Amino acid sequence: MYRSKIVGTGFYVPPRVVTNHDLEKLMDTSDEWIQQRTGIKERHYVEDGVGAADLAYEASKRALQSAGMKPEDIDFIVFATLSPDYALPGSGVLLQHYIGARNVGAIDIRDQCTGFLYSLMVADNAIRVGQYKNVLVVGAEVHSTGLDFSTGGRDVTVLFGDGAGAVILTATEEKNKGILSTHLHAEGKYFDKLWTEWPSSKRIPRITHKILDNGGHYPYMDGQFVFKHAVKRMVEVINEALEFNGYTVEDIGMVIPHQANLRINQMVARKMGIPDEKMYNNIHKYGNTTAATIPIALTEALQEGKIKDGDLVIMASFGAGFTWASAAMIW
Ligand code: ACO
Repeated sequence: MYRSKIVGTGFYVPPRVVTNHDLEKLMDTSDEWIQQRTGIKERHYVEDGVGAADLAYEASKRALQSAGMKPEDIDFIVFATLSPDYALPGSGVLLQHYIGARNVGAIDIRDQCTGFLYSLMVADNAIRVGQYKNVLVVGAEVHSTGLDFSTGGRDVTVLFGDGAGAVILTATEEKNKGILSTHLHAEGKYFDKLWTEWPSSKRIPRITHKILDNGGHYPYMDGQFVFKHAVKRMVEVINEALEFNGYTVEDIGMVIPHQANLRINQMVARKMGIPDEKMYNNIHKYGNTTAATIPIALTEALQEGKIKDGDLVIMASFGAGFTWASAAMIW
């Protein structure tokens, strides 16, 4: 039976850097507050007219190059985003067009910060059953065009950045190589602890001028509630990956965690006894890029030589939904 392995990675962030000091000019916040509470120093924002599929295109080109593949080698595209370019169609089909792939299938996955790992599950299983050989899996987000830059939105707005990360998964018969497992979870009863309520297809009309004036189209988060659940679920789902594959914390080569808040990752590491150097963090540069965070972090960790051949790598995430997930792989 085939297994899938990652043979190419790439990421792209738009060139415009927005520091905490830049945000101080727009809302009542401070570099000190943001760094202390979240670990974030800066993030990148797009210019007008650049969408998630544009960022994904740049990341995908780099992933293809690192895999030594051409667009026509891709058999299927899985695109994770909570910020698609348009309400319809999805961003996956735009990416298929932009990269010049054949007329292969392209799906969008809507699972927020866990979107990349949900997408990896879909791609991994499509390869395992033998349906596809090479699958492009992308996470890309444009948050900056949908945030509240008044003081009322500061708790959420300072956290997020724009960016994209991509991997190429390919079929392999090698033993002890590639994706070993994926574990996905959801707890929809907490859907409104982190959500964007409007526009809503259950409302007639879907949005009104009054709701726009009141900022009802901006994301809302119960930060402390989300924080507590994130720590608990990340620990659980990393342990689930280890136990399923017969490993312990000592076997870990590198954890690539979601980048929502440095303090979440530090707490997870402390609770599990994972040493700091085995918990990869780059949130200080990019903020939370949601579905893009894990492929961006994986690419950077590889570029920095922090993952070696044969290492056990655990990827784990928690986000809106609530959803949480992990994937274990041997690099
Ligand atoms: N600048 C300055 N002050 C701020 C800011 C800001 N940007 N934001 C909030 N504050 C204030 C609050 O108003 C509050 O003031 P008060 O005490 O006078 O009422 C004070 O700071 C403390 O606020 P808390 O919400 O208690 O701060 P906390 O330490 O919880 O940090 C944060 C907030 C960073 C949002 C944290 O709760 C968090 O990271 N939560 C989890 C985020 C997460 O994991 N999200 C999931 C992934 S995202 C996705 O799936 C799309």
